[in-house]
Amino acid sequence: MPNTPPGPAPASQNARPFLHGPETAALTAALEAGQYGHSPLVEQFEQAVAAYLGVPQMVAVASGTAALHLALLAAGAGPGSEVVVPSQTYCATLHAILATGAHPRFIEINPRTLCIEDTAVRAALTDVTRAVVPVLYGGRAIDLSALHDELHARQITVVQDAAHAFGSRNPDHTLVGAQPDLLTCFSFGPIKNLTCGQGGGIIPRTPAEAATLRSLRALGIPQSQPERATATTYTVEQFGLRATMSALNAAIGLVQLQHFATAAARRKTLWRAYATGLQPFARVHLVDIDIDRTVPFNCVVHLPGGERDRVFAQMRGAGLGVGVHYPPNHTQPAFRPWHRPLPVTERSGRQLLSLPFHPGMTPADVPPVLAALAHSLPTEPPCAS
Ligand SMILES: Cc1ncc(COP(=O)(O)O)c(C=O)c1O
Repeated sequence: MPNTPPGPAPASQNARPFLHGPETAALTAALEAGQYGHSPLVEQFEQAVAAYLGVPQMVAVASGTAALHLALLAAGAGPGSEVVVPSQTYCATLHAILATGAHPRFIEINPRTLCIEDTAVRAALTDVTRAVVPVLYGGRAIDLSALHDELHARQITVVQDAAHAFGSRNPDHTLVGAQPDLLTCFSFGPIKNLTCGQGGGIIPRTPAEAATLRSLRALGIPQSQPERATATTYTVEQFGLRATMSALNAAIGLVQLQHFATAAARRKTLWRAYATGLQPFARVHLVDIDIDRTVPFNCVVHLPGGERDRVFAQMRGAGLGVGVHYPPNHTQPAFRPWHRPLPVTERSGRQLLSLPFHPGMTPADVPPVLAALAHSLPTEPPCAS
């Protein structure tokens, strides 16, 4: 039986973690084992995720942001280089790019999916482009295969931000992360499809890249803990960060992975209930996340022009956990030097509303949310409840 923590009504929060029960015992056991840093438990989690995805390796790190940062470093991003990225993402994607010393080159999205497409990527490539970061918004896979040969020839790496997309499938039905020619970064943060409490993971392209990432996440020291226990010194081979995943997080992630099918099914069922309930709304457009292939991270709508902020305030006032994911990044003060006009992103940034969405909700929680939405948009037909 699911063991979601007691708390407020499900729809009053935009998102929250979903526990299956055994996480508590697993966490207690990890606490009592007394090894809180990188440990065999972390390696067990890495192997379990790799087996789930059908890939040789996964490199666990401290967060999705760290996953992007290290993957971009491994791809060669750094001072003087550019990384092509949508503005429509969480600011973490941008901070990871800046942390390497590279600059972002913002591009437009398709407003129907909130995802980038190959034509916009191609138009943004320059002589200094080192990486392209497609953001798999809402969990939807992005197919850039039409650009594969050109990117390969220009030594540009695709580092996909799959923070939302654990468990989703590509157009060819392989799992996101299983494509051998690109680097995939997952977040295992508190509200992600698969949570460790906090954490991230990188799917490397080659064993050598895996070794580089393992060194980067551990202060540039390639020796394992057992190796270090039998030697009087260690080698700091290259620049590195303290970006290892804690065994406490891995303990949670291992349980979550065992029960992932349950959480994924609950997310899909809830998203489909919203899609059905939204059909009578003529002026509300659901972001298309390709539900048949996607494990949805969120449920986001475009509202009619100029009404989003009022609807947000009214629904929040009614105790419903609506949100906005995300305010565009190219207009943020921190990223102003790389601003360029992005009218599609700016318009959708004013229209987006995230409905309450997490696996602790069931289809029975949807009608009250949509009734409140209809109430805030008086020209809409009231939702059947
Ligand atoms: C699109 C996207 N990228 C990156 C991240 C960063 O992941 P983390 O919070 O695990 O650092 C997030 C987190 O919400 C995200 O939504």
